[in-house]
Amino acid sequence: MNLVKANNETITAAAGIIKQGGLVAFPTETVYGLGADALNPIAVAKIFEVKKRPAFNPLILHIAEKDSLKKFATFDDKKVDLLIKKFWPGPLTLVLPKTEIVPDIVTSGNPTVAVRMPDHPVALQLIKSSGTAIAAPSANRFGHLSPTEASHVSKYLGEKVDMILDGGKCKVGVESTIVQFYEGKFYMLRPGGLSKEEIEKEIGTLEKGKIDIAKPTSPGQLPFHYSPHTPLKFWDTKFLDKNKRIGVLFFSKLKTEFPFSAVKILSEKKDLREAAANLFSALHEFEKEKLDMILVEPVEEKGLGIAIMDRLKKAAKKFD
Ligand code: TXA
Ligand code: MG
Repeated sequence: MNLVKANNETITAAAGIIKQGGLVAFPTETVYGLGADALNPIAVAKIFEVKKRPAFNPLILHIAEKDSLKKFATFDDKKVDLLIKKFWPGPLTLVLPKTEIVPDIVTSGNPTVAVRMPDHPVALQLIKSSGTAIAAPSANRFGHLSPTEASHVSKYLGEKVDMILDGGKCKVGVESTIVQFYEGKFYMLRPGGLSKEEIEKEIGTLEKGKIDIAKPTSPGQLPFHYSPHTPLKFWDTKFLDKNKRIGVLFFSKLKTEFPFSAVKILSEKKDLREAAANLFSALHEFEKEKLDMILVEPVEEKGLGIAIMDRLKKAAKKFD
């Protein structure tokens, strides 16, 4: 049985699991989270696998001390400071420009990262004892209701999680409110446990509508999902033109003699977890190579392969 009452002993054991790259479901004041070491891309890939998410969604990074935000996000703004002072720990997630150490699989390749400090003693103790930040979506299967009791997690995810820490019923019961700080303005991305009115009382009126991604200020600065700027196509020998600079993204490796300008392999041992963990970084690296085209080998659409292919198909569609 992986469901245990949260106490000093079980939280220490859970922290050990996080450090070793395992998955722990834990209570927060909003809903239960499915946590992994945010700085371990393979552990984060497991989250998507267990949730059976058909696509990669960026994850919220959970921290236990306000000061550690600086490790993961960059900003210099008095109003952001104020929100943190006023509402952390609590049901407010801030989306800010990310630092280098946040793996691309956590942010789905976005240049921004979502961070929050949960207001729950079990969550805070778990994060502190793990010595890292914990990436966690709600601990439900994709498309199901968010869990507000440990038994919900166990019903949805069962033995697929290494440990479920039971910390009772979540007192807020809905997910955190998500606010993005972008170019000096604040945008509400998701309503949640902290009301708009409470936020506006501190920092003034939030922007109406969504961030205008039609007018990105510079490549790579898009606030939302990342697509490579280099044309991306699925593998077909008809694209092999020696006059072009072509980069190839192999799943494991196809047989070919073609002189590619750049070659990346997602997983030599054909492990979908490892492939998922490497996907966004590989695409980012290709961007720096000034290629005419990126060719990608499709992966089998099962398990994490579904999310990997979803991402690649979206990227390829742009260049149809
Ligand atoms: O209350 C909560 O926020 C719970 C607990 C466990 O902390 N977590 C949660 O996570 O609701 P999840 O994965 O179910 O929802 C996270 C949301 C998604 O809608 C995702 O798109 C958004 O956060 N998000 C994460 N990173 C983002 C980013 N860099 N930019 C924009 N949206 C982001
Ligand atoms: Mg969710």
